[in-house]
Amino acid sequence: MTAHLKMDKPDTRNRLDHTAQGLIGAGMDRPDGKAKVTGTAAYAFEDQPEGMAHGVLVRANVAKGRLNDIDRDSVLRLPGVLAAMCGPRFLRNPAQGGANEAPVQGSEGIAYLGQPVALVVAETFEQARHAAHMLTLQIDAQEGQTDPDIAGYESPDAKQAQQGDLDRAMKDAATAIDVTYTTPSHNSAAMEPHAAIAEWDQDMLTLRGSYQMLKYNRNELADALGIDPKCVRILAPYVGGGFGSKLGIAPEAVAAALAAHELNRPVGVALTRQQVFEGTMRRSESRQRVRLAADASGKLQGIGHDAYISNLTDEVFSEPVTQATPFIYAGENRVIGHHIARVNRTCAGSVRAPGESIGVTVLENAMDELAHQTGIDPVELRLMNIPDKNPTSGLPFSSHTLAEALTTGRDRFGWDQRNPQPGSTRKGDWLIGMGMASAVRVNILSEARVRVTLMPDGTARVQTDMTDIGTGTYAILTQICAEMLGLPETDVSVSLGDTDHPPGPGSGGSWGASSVGTAAFLACEKIRRELAKKVDADEADLTLKDGMVSYANRQVRLADMIDEEIEIEGHVEPGDTSDDVTQSTYGAHFAEVAVNAVTGETRVQRMLGVFAAGRILNHKTARSQCLGGMTFGLGMALTEELMHDPRDGHIVNRDLAEYHLPVNLDVPQLDVVLLDERDAYANPLQSKGIGELGICGAAAAITNAIFNATGVRVRDYPATLDKVL
Ligand code: MOS
Repeated sequence: MTAHLKMDKPDTRNRLDHTAQGLIGAGMDRPDGKAKVTGTAAYAFEDQPEGMAHGVLVRANVAKGRLNDIDRDSVLRLPGVLAAMCGPRFLRNPAQGGANEAPVQGSEGIAYLGQPVALVVAETFEQARHAAHMLTLQIDAQEGQTDPDIAGYESPDAKQAQQGDLDRAMKDAATAIDVTYTTPSHNSAAMEPHAAIAEWDQDMLTLRGSYQMLKYNRNELADALGIDPKCVRILAPYVGGGFGSKLGIAPEAVAAALAAHELNRPVGVALTRQQVFEGTMRRSESRQRVRLAADASGKLQGIGHDAYISNLTDEVFSEPVTQATPFIYAGENRVIGHHIARVNRTCAGSVRAPGESIGVTVLENAMDELAHQTGIDPVELRLMNIPDKNPTSGLPFSSHTLAEALTTGRDRFGWDQRNPQPGSTRKGDWLIGMGMASAVRVNILSEARVRVTLMPDGTARVQTDMTDIGTGTYAILTQICAEMLGLPETDVSVSLGDTDHPPGPGSGGSWGASSVGTAAFLACEKIRRELAKKVDADEADLTLKDGMVSYANRQVRLADMIDEEIEIEGHVEPGDTSDDVTQSTYGAHFAEVAVNAVTGETRVQRMLGVFAAGRILNHKTARSQCLGGMTFGLGMALTEELMHDPRDGHIVNRDLAEYHLPVNLDVPQLDVVLLDERDAYANPLQSKGIGELGICGAAAAITNAIFNATGVRVRDYPATLDKVL
């Protein structure tokens, strides 16, 4: 049986508040935590079958060209080498998740330096690595274009938007800001490098891998191999971070599958850290021009946001930089511009809140420039420009918490201690400053199916191909099902990351917990109705708690009520909830920095993030997501930057030693406040996605604080010391 949602109006049942155990929202520990910290949770490359051979990918050493062949014979003579392979399928370099098919980018040939183009397989990893180094590629190099500004930008019509007359508004404005910022390419830099192990049984392929969205990944892999998706099973029970880089299947999966087929034995392919940096999705660099037209009171009359980004030829994805600009602030006159250059640089894809994380950041820098010019307090300026309906579409907001986030943050942070005069607070050699920024991220519901089975022994089993990429899916699904079925958490077992289970939405775009949680909720709700039927009661009159069912003065053990499994599949899809509202999550970032007046070094001293994302399903994992986002914001502000060699576009700093993510010593006390919110339009849980909210705008709070500390406005991220001095 299936349980399907149809929600025409806001769902105000507030159902989970009236269940008996109070598990939803509690900061439950991860049920998978013990396995992870004791090293017994098997990640993609740790569950190696008997007889597995090792494959090592070989990278293109030109930015553009055609691979004619490889010199197989030279490496097949080397010890342990089993195969050397290349061909068009290696060049089909599956990119974005959600596509269902392997995108054809690169099929014409080599599209960027570092692109995987061949595979060498050997008995051991060391033998394969050695042979990969020795392999000669026969390449016809072509002239590539690696500089977006020289390549030039296209402006696809569908991505431009205009409303009113921005030029006029800029001319008439009491204060007009017209500034251009740049942000560099970023790498997701997940802790677990990409890896896949392929094993065939006749026509059936089993792939252990590290991916975020298995339902799509299965289709993409089948498409790349030219086989039926039914013949592909992907297993990813544990994923060591993704941040966008594992949304789609990647070259190692295709290569492992092809090699395992050819050799008729299991083959594993793990990327080195350098290969991860060169060959998995980067976030595009951006140049962003922001125009703000304000009247004498500081009210915005116009906003312009033009984004210049890049990707490979034919790639559909382009960083949606301006995603939140149409609705975050008021203003009648608007221009949204989206301009894309086609370059021979590593494929650009989703990285850590694609769009808002760099788009809101730059917009929030421009807002700080406006605040400074008008002399209006930055928090006040935002408060006075919060629209009461979506200023672009005219739709109402489902719920709106930006004002509450701003005022809560202002009070908790001690914003009144900030001296608005830049460069005016000094302690010894350190210049002290405070900055803030709004946070905003769109909320998305994605199709999800979850099977919940109530077993005759009174325990429950929960199955979906949904992943847990460190985000807390195991915990959240356990909580929802335990609460709805009145079971102790330990009597609910959640099985994830297996395409044999009903397809979930995958982990991406902050939609995971709400979408998959809703499907689980619907399944449990139906199970409760089945139980009510059995005792001829009304479901609303049942109390399920601690494995007991109470109704009308009677109490029975749940296990005694059922003699056979009750199995229900919950299903939700976009369109099931109201789409005539604008749904978004909001927050506010506050940062205090100390900038060394002699060296230009910035130390972030403290940060506060206040966030609202509807009902918080697990306060511990939600807080952790926000801490992670703020930490990445710190990296974006101060250190993270992929550097492309201007000659051939290749990524020069391609490891964690040269690409600087914040480490423990860089990260100060971070405080997170989660506001109490319900969004009755979002889904029956009344929750929204929180995974990516924490990074959106975070870097701007820091660079705005640097301006307050020093009077230096860094418009070219990251704000390294040379730019601050
Ligand atoms: Mo995300 S960057 O949609 O994994």
